[in-house]
Amino acid sequence: MLTQEENDLLTQVGPGTPGGELLRRYWHPVAVSAELTHEHPTRFVRILGEDLVLFKDKSGRVGLLADHCSHRGASLLYGRVEERGISCAYHGWLYDCEGNILETPPERNDAIMRSVKHTAYPVRKFIGLYWAYLGPSPMPVIPPYDIWVRKDGTRKITVRPVLDCNWFQPMENSADSPHLEILHQAVSGREAPANTTRGFIDDVESYDYHVEEWGALIKTRVYKNGEVDHHPLIFPNVLRVGNRTQIRVPIDDTHTWHVVVAFTPTEDGSIVEDVEDLPFSYDPPYKDPPDARYPSARNKMDTVPQQDYMVWETQGAVANRTAEHLSFGDRGVVLLRNVLRENIERVQAGLDPLGLVRDPDLAMIDTNLDESIEMERRGRPVGSRAGRAANTRDT
Ligand code: FES
Ligand SMILES: [Fe+2]
Repeated sequence: MLTQEENDLLTQVGPGTPGGELLRRYWHPVAVSAELTHEHPTRFVRILGEDLVLFKDKSGRVGLLADHCSHRGASLLYGRVEERGISCAYHGWLYDCEGNILETPPERNDAIMRSVKHTAYPVRKFIGLYWAYLGPSPMPVIPPYDIWVRKDGTRKITVRPVLDCNWFQPMENSADSPHLEILHQAVSGREAPANTTRGFIDDVESYDYHVEEWGALIKTRVYKNGEVDHHPLIFPNVLRVGNRTQIRVPIDDTHTWHVVVAFTPTEDGSIVEDVEDLPFSYDPPYKDPPDARYPSARNKMDTVPQQDYMVWETQGAVANRTAEHLSFGDRGVVLLRNVLRENIERVQAGLDPLGLVRDPDLAMIDTNLDESIEMERRGRPVGSRAGRAANTRDT
C-alpha cells in the first residue's frame, strides 16, 4: 500500500513532475512514420502531458513543435507546410523544425524573432516510427536492443487502442508473472483448467525477478516440468516478450499510447534490406463503446491483449495504490516500484537513470531474444490439461 504522495510520484508524467522528468530522459515513439506524408504532413501528438504537432516540411525535414502558436495560440496542426517549415494557418507565423520563428506576418518583427523561441523537440525516424526526445541536453541515443536493430529479419508495427489509464499500470502488469496463469487461462482455443480460481498456476514451480544493469527487470518462470521462461521488462516502459516489444508511451497521467513492434527473423539468417517505412496496422477497439471508460464501457475478453486492457483500465484511470493489499506474489511489482523510485531519485541527483545509452557506437544489446522466440515457437509448457498449440501470448 502506498501513500497518495508515493502514488503521485510513480504515476505523474507532466513537465516538472519527478516521474515526468525521469521519462523525459528517454526517447519515445510518437507516430508511425508511414502516416506522416506529403498529403498529410501534420499530426497531433500528446505525450507526457504536452500537446505537440509533428510535421514534415516540403524539404522532407520533420519537426515536433508545441501545438499552440507563439503568436496568439491557434493550433499548428492546421499549419501549412512549406520548404522552410510550418506556417500557422491564422496569421502565417513561420517556424522551422528547431522552433525558430522565421516570419511574423503581416509585419516583420525582428524583436520577436530574436527573443521568442517556440518549444521544439528533436525527432528521429527509427524502425518505422518517429521518436521524440523531450529532455535536457545532451541527448542520449535510442538503445540498440537486438529486437530493434537486428538486420536478419522483418519488422511490423501494430498500434493498439489508446489505453485509458496511467502508463505504470501496464508496466506493473509486466512485472506481475502470476496473472498469466490466472487472467489468461481462458483465451479462445485453450482447454479450460480444472479450477478457475487457480487457473494454470499449478503448472509453475516458481517465479523470480532480478534487475540487470543494461536496463531491464527480468522475470523468470520455472515450470514444474523443468522448462524456464525469462523475458525482460526494459526500463522504463517497454516489455519485450516473444518476438515483440510493447512500448507504452505515456500520453498524460490517464492515457497511454500502446505500440507493438514485432521482429520475425529469416529462417536462414539472411539479411533483409532496410525499408523506408514499416508495414503497420491498428487493432480494432477492445471495448464498447470504444471511447467510454469503465464502467460505462464493456471490455472485450476474447484475447490476451483485451484481457490485459480490462484489468489495466478497471484499476482506475490512475490505480488507487493507497487501498491495495500486496502479497508475496506481487514482489515483482514491488521491485519495479523500487526501481522506478530509485531512478527518479537518480535523475533528481543529476545522474543518468537505468538503461540510458549515450554511446552511439554501443554494440547491440542482447535481450535474450532468440531464446524467447524459440520458447514461443515451442509454446509455453501448460501441463497436461492443454496442449502447447494453445499457447498464450503473454504481456
Ligand atoms: S495565432 Fe498563429 S500566426 Fe497568429
Ligand atoms: Fe497479461
